[in-house]
Amino acid sequence: MTIFFIKSLLSLMLLLGACLSMYTMFEIFGRGPSAASAGNFKKLHKASGYIYVLLFVLVSYLCIGFMTASKAELSSRAALHVVIAWSLIVLFIVKVLFVRVYRQFYGHARTIGIVMGVMSFVLVGITSGHYLVVSGFGKDRSVDKSAYYELRGPLLRVVGTGIPASSVIRTDRQSIGRGRTLFLSRCATCHDPLTTNTIVGPGLKGLLKNPALPVSKHPATAESLRFQLRQPMGRMPSFAYLTEDEMSDLIAYLNTL
Ligand code: HEC
Repeated sequence: MTIFFIKSLLSLMLLLGACLSMYTMFEIFGRGPSAASAGNFKKLHKASGYIYVLLFVLVSYLCIGFMTASKAELSSRAALHVVIAWSLIVLFIVKVLFVRVYRQFYGHARTIGIVMGVMSFVLVGITSGHYLVVSGFGKDRSVDKSAYYELRGPLLRVVGTGIPASSVIRTDRQSIGRGRTLFLSRCATCHDPLTTNTIVGPGLKGLLKNPALPVSKHPATAESLRFQLRQPMGRMPSFAYLTEDEMSDLIAYLNTL
């Protein structure tokens, strides 16, 4: 399971929490003075509030962990996500203050509750929802930027995966020679090494000199190439049967294009 997948599942639970909070709030305030069991709903509302906060903290922790580990520039979707998340935190604090301290504003707390509920849906929809839909509920890992990272250690620290040695690119002539032979026998039917023209797959000239891979736009690194060979995107066959050594040779050759 990748970080994005775990995060998305937690986010769905967070949405359930938001739904429960809204529902209990409606039951408490929406039915007028005759509502008999408001006490129970209040307890339930409090409980769902705690669950919401707990999940929010957990998901935020994964988000921040991934951001610091990947050091990636935020996409516009992720930036919007951050803005909404921060707004939710502020709204939540204001709401608690209205309920506990500034009781004159008590009535506004309900409106804030509804706004928070709606914002939660937007928040989860634009990222987790989007991710789950485009990845076929986590099946297609090529759209998953977090596939390069995994959780390690008791404090859920996110660390980049891949043995560091695998990201070192060989530059000796023997390796490049072996890689070239491999390329000609396994890859050249679909990839032109001398241009960027498409045969079946894209031409690979300058592959590792560009910042990003041509199709997936993953960073052009040895790690991304290994990932593509093992779990290729699109119609490219998998080369997971190659040994680590053969992959290193292949990458040594690709590095010269
Ligand atoms: C049967 C044809 C075929 C063979 C053989 C093949 N590829 Fe591909 N390759 C593709 C296609 C098609 C794509 C583009 C994927 C897409 O458009 O969904 C691709 C994409 C790529 C990419 C770009 C990936 C990205 O993330 O943008 C690289 C790099 C690559 N191939 C390297 C190789 C290497 C190295 C070999 C040999 C070990 C190889 N391919 C063998 C068809 C092939």
